[in-house]
Amino acid sequence: YMQKVAVINSLEEDMKALPDEALAAKTSEFRGRLQKGESLDDILPEAFAVVREASRRVLNMRHYDVQLIGGMVLHVGAVAEMQTGEGKTLVATLPAYLNALEGKGVHVVTVNDYLAKRDCEWMGKLYQFLGVSVAVIQEGFSQKRKRAAFNADITYLTANSLGFTFLQDTSTVDRKDDLVRLAITRPFNYAIVDEADSLLIDDCRNPLIISDEPDTGATERFLLAHKVKTERVLRLGHYVIDRKLHRISLTRDGMLRGRPPNINDLWEAAVPMGPYIITALRARELHRRDVNYIVREGEVKIVNTSTGRIMPTSRWTDDLHQAIEAQEYPEVEIKGRTKVSSSITFQTLFKYYSKLSGMTGTAITEEEEFHEVYGLSVTAVPTHKPRRRIDHEPRVFLTENHMLRTLRLLLTKARSQLRPVLIGTASVADSEYAAANLRAWGIQHQMLNARPQYIRREAKIIAQAGVPGLITIATNMAGRGTDIILGGNPKGLAQLALENTVLPAMAAEGLHQQLVSSLPLAQKSWPKFAQLFPRLKAVVDAKLGAHDTSEGPDVKDAGGLLVLVLSMQESERVAKQLRGRAGRQGDPGETFTLVDLNDPLVEAAGLTSGMEAARPFLQSARRYSCLPELSSLTQDAVERTSGM
Ligand SMILES: Nc1ncnc2c1ncn2[C@@H]1O[C@H](COP(=O)(O)OP(=O)(O)OP(=O)(O)O)[C@@H](O)[C@H]1O
Ligand SMILES: [Mg+2]
Repeated sequence: YMQKVAVINSLEEDMKALPDEALAAKTSEFRGRLQKGESLDDILPEAFAVVREASRRVLNMRHYDVQLIGGMVLHVGAVAEMQTGEGKTLVATLPAYLNALEGKGVHVVTVNDYLAKRDCEWMGKLYQFLGVSVAVIQEGFSQKRKRAAFNADITYLTANSLGFTFLQDTSTVDRKDDLVRLAITRPFNYAIVDEADSLLIDDCRNPLIISDEPDTGATERFLLAHKVKTERVLRLGHYVIDRKLHRISLTRDGMLRGRPPNINDLWEAAVPMGPYIITALRARELHRRDVNYIVREGEVKIVNTSTGRIMPTSRWTDDLHQAIEAQEYPEVEIKGRTKVSSSITFQTLFKYYSKLSGMTGTAITEEEEFHEVYGLSVTAVPTHKPRRRIDHEPRVFLTENHMLRTLRLLLTKARSQLRPVLIGTASVADSEYAAANLRAWGIQHQMLNARPQYIRREAKIIAQAGVPGLITIATNMAGRGTDIILGGNPKGLAQLALENTVLPAMAAEGLHQQLVSSLPLAQKSWPKFAQLFPRLKAVVDAKLGAHDTSEGPDVKDAGGLLVLVLSMQESERVAKQLRGRAGRQGDPGETFTLVDLNDPLVEAAGLTSGMEAARPFLQSARRYSCLPELSSLTQDAVERTSGM
């Protein structure tokens, strides 16, 4: 790779000398040369040099040499491991542009709508400059709108959108034989999968499902089972829970007690009640509201605990979803069982691509699986600058009070240093619990979790999260991909100021009717708005320029972003992604992980028995030392298991 980098570097001066039009005209030149028989590999060095120079002009970012390497790894159809904050968004532009020249379509696939939109808008300027068309797909787009987006040279979208559009297309064909309605009209050519470990490995076997008309017969049995569960007071002893295997079984007592009136045996009759009772118990014991699911608009919505996001179209299988609905009834309706009409897994979906590539900060540990499942090799790309982040060892506390005391100390200190803080929590409920504590301490903060009011403002919350002294509490939603800019994101902040102060003030004074009437537009699209009102843009740009330099250095002096991870994460990769919000691009940063012994994940990691045994000892040990933290012995145990 280094050889090619040298070639690309040697082209830089020539590219710099080209006026804008000539640089943009390279695109049609390349397309012509491809038609005459040159290969993508032949034009790679020039194409990369063009993208780098265009990016410098349009985005004010010049691809570093390591980013060129990352781009080449993606181009050959492999997985590039590049650390968090290294600039993978920009890396993807190189192979995306190069492969788009063939006109067969390139998909840049990511984990959520927020990232798809952010990356498309951000990198879109570059593609537009070079005369390559680009589009984004978001949840809820019509098939028609999706088709337009799929026909662009480069399409940014989530794996979910991709899968569902695919399923909708296939079922359309089956039923109506109406090809005109299809959203995807070309074969899958080349995909760049961002956060590849999450999409290609973790989520690859969960099926996406489109279901037909529901069969409502079972509804009463779900309600009956729920009634039995609560009214007959089934509790531990009547059943056993295997938290690791996610299973519950009834004991003899439970089988007797759990019998609804008029039923002699839970396992007899045409439709035995036993399974319903067990599912009802699984709903209560293994799935917590505001942790594993939330109730929104009268529906039970699954929260993906590793991303912190709602999975709007997914339902649990094996009747579990209905059992949970019965538990939340009548706040939500019980949707009868559904018959599956078609389904597909990411694994199958991604194999349709002629060429597949991926990038993520956490790939090497999954190297084998990438190879086995997709035949993809993993290449680790070095960082541009050495990492300056300090990751402290996880600290385990005997009680939650001890943990909270340390949290408060850390926050007070960070605030006095005017340092931005990100508090990472494991669930909506945990995030709200943390917020309640901060309120009680009188510490101001902002919140980001799967509740709709925050999801809508996600981009704005993130834009502010790097502001000196600001504390943001978040679930894993602020994990993968989130880019918190030290000092705050100037453009986002300017937009906020515009929305919150400038526009309302003008409206209040009855100024500029036209301006006021386009307020909704301003909230949707700053670029369009700026086009309409060049003078206003000039003012904002001036502020923005001033802002850019004023806050950044201060925050860096104070030590950069402080990430406090409360509670254990389900996997070390998820934890690493959260920590990766700090110390990006060689910036300073610091992370702490605070866990208390009552954390359910401590239990899930199989530690309970050991911990329970150790508790009396630790309690007496505490009386002699006033250390709130446990001995290093216990810490070792926790680390070993949390690293699994
Ligand atoms: N060549 C460059 N020059 C200047 N800034 C850059 C360059 N490349 C990336 N950046 C900046 O680095 C920051 C991080 O970029 P990005 O979010 O793409 O990282 P990432 O590798 O995708 O991280 P994550 O793994 O967390 O998703 C952004 O603010 C971006 O503007
Ligand atoms: Mg990213």
